Amino acid sequence: MIILNAEENGALYEEAGQLMKIAKEARENAYMPYSHFAVGAALLCEDGSIYSGCNIENAAYSPGNCAERTAVFKAVSEGRRRFQAIALVGAAEGKEPDKEAVCTPCGVCRQVMAEFCDTESFRIYVTDGENIYSYTLNELLPMAFGPEQL
Ligand code: THU
Repeated sequence: MIILNAEENGALYEEAGQLMKIAKEARENAYMPYSHFAVGAALLCEDGSIYSGCNIENAAYSPGNCAERTAVFKAVSEGRRRFQAIALVGAAEGKEPDKEAVCTPCGVCRQVMAEFCDTESFRIYVTDGENIYSYTLNELLPMAFGPEQL
């Protein structure tokens, strides 16, 4: 995990800041009438394109989709398969992220990332409202079961 700062992580800091801004905008569209927890994500593809996503819940509960998977599925459905980084921002409806509650990707989203992302170089940006933290997928999903094992 790296706590990003402008001096030491110039390019990554820029990238993370840009993705966070897009994730925050996507969060505005979160459809979460059941949990009242709003999440936005922004996924950077290897070709430089960016796909955003929000969580989309459902009256039957289990069909609900997380913001990260919305972004990944949008990208894959548009022909993108290689990704460099994702930013996510999540907090209770009407609130901003804070130090007590940093929103990290759920296990299902981590597994979906493992399908398309290099587990060491792919960067996962989360925020506590003040800092941006950069994790690798290896840190969040060690010993992932991935396509190379089949
Ligand atoms: N959620 C996400 O969209 N991403 C995460 O990383 C964590 C959880 C959503 C799922 C559900 O709609 C709501 O947040 C509460 O779990």
